[in-house]
Amino acid sequence: MATRTRRDVWKLSKIKVWEDTLLWYAKAVAKMQERKLSDPTSWRYQAAIHGYAGNAPGEEPADKATYWNQCQHHCWFFLPWHRWYLYYFEAIVAKTVRELGGPAGWSLPYWNYSDASNPDARKLPPAFREEKLPDGKPNPLRVNRGAGNGGANVGSPGSADIKICLKQPKFTAESAIVPRFGGAKVTANNHSGGIQGQLERTPHGSMHGAVGGLMGTFETAGLDPIFWLHHANIDRLWDVWRKRPSGHVDPTDTDWLDRVKFPFHDADGRPVTKTSRGVSDSAALGYVYEDISDPLRGALEGVSFDEEEESPMPSRIPEMIGASNAPVPLTAGRTATEVPLTAPTGPGAGLESVGGAAEPARVIVAFENVTGEGVAQNFAVYVNGTFAGILPTFGVPEASGATEKHPGGGLEYRFDVTEIVQQTGADPRTMRVEFVPEQQEPEPEPQPEAEDAGLESMQPRRGGTFEIGRVSVYLA
Ligand code: C2O
Repeated sequence: MATRTRRDVWKLSKIKVWEDTLLWYAKAVAKMQERKLSDPTSWRYQAAIHGYAGNAPGEEPADKATYWNQCQHHCWFFLPWHRWYLYYFEAIVAKTVRELGGPAGWSLPYWNYSDASNPDARKLPPAFREEKLPDGKPNPLRVNRGAGNGGANVGSPGSADIKICLKQPKFTAESAIVPRFGGAKVTANNHSGGIQGQLERTPHGSMHGAVGGLMGTFETAGLDPIFWLHHANIDRLWDVWRKRPSGHVDPTDTDWLDRVKFPFHDADGRPVTKTSRGVSDSAALGYVYEDISDPLRGALEGVSFDEEEESPMPSRIPEMIGASNAPVPLTAGRTATEVPLTAPTGPGAGLESVGGAAEPARVIVAFENVTGEGVAQNFAVYVNGTFAGILPTFGVPEASGATEKHPGGGLEYRFDVTEIVQQTGADPRTMRVEFVPEQQEPEPEPQPEAEDAGLESMQPRRGGTFEIGRVSVYLA
């Protein structure tokens, strides 16, 4: 089979708005939307694999318990599961394109919202905003979104940040405190709840929250055609991370490789079962990305690449040196909390010596038991007045209610703030942590209330209420 190349959607869009890949995507989406919910190759079924809230009884297949609500989040299966998900989705779209008389070898483009060389990077490509297709039919690529349909930049530069994730030296943490690239180890399927990797937080979760609308919840995200291009980019960043120098390797643990099974259907609607084994080599799966060059090379002033990459990570026992004494509600305005710090008595050497000791400690701020409901929102986090990253609430509602699968304790976030502490000469007795809702720039074009034939019942509510159970500070 010939190798497919997944292309940058903005490069395609600069050729023309309805470049062939996008026009055929739109036609295939419209075709898939005509198929019945119970057909594994239908648009609705494909989204239900990711999440399904239950609103079309009677049309549901008997085996939905096996195939729906399967997305793997907040753990080290996030990347492999979504890679297979895209793989079969792409095959289904490609087959549909052929059936409609289009070319063979259709490949899923990716949305690189972090491309520093493209001033339009965070805008939705025009094919996802146009009201009509070239033949005058309604454009199925345009759906209700919280932002972007009018041509504004989506979210803030912080929500498209890739420095935090690409600089992670390891795929999975050796402790529950240190944040890593790909998520925490678990030994069973994990739909939600737990410790996400830094890629899953930003740009993944933050771009879900920035687009909003259907993209803001698990059970509606796959109904937005941009979802698949967003995830192609996340999948691409996995390849980018692994190609960066210095031991960026995927887990070799059989708990990751073989233990957990992922059920899907192929392009002919036949059941298939996959694991993470063999998933790492995208070329072996028949596709490559147009560009997996390192976007951080040379971008960090005064730091040679290898020094930056090899920031030491001593294996010390993490020690908690402070915690907020009450839950912190995330509000529509600015919320601040002061975390009192104590001098560590254990292996931590205290904030005073961070960066000075022979074995410098990392300073980690943990947001524990983040719970709530509603459509994902992004909060900019400031530590001692300095921007530390985005806290996206994508996935929080799904992790908040107790189900048979998890206790409903919400999500856990880890921010490495070592550099901020070093650069701001932090007070060793207190840490100020603030949360500011991410600002969305106004849309240049006025937005008519979108009508989504057939999908109205799927419109998630706008906004939500979220709370952090505890903010704590660790030396690790
Ligand atoms: Cu399973 Cu971006 O979500």
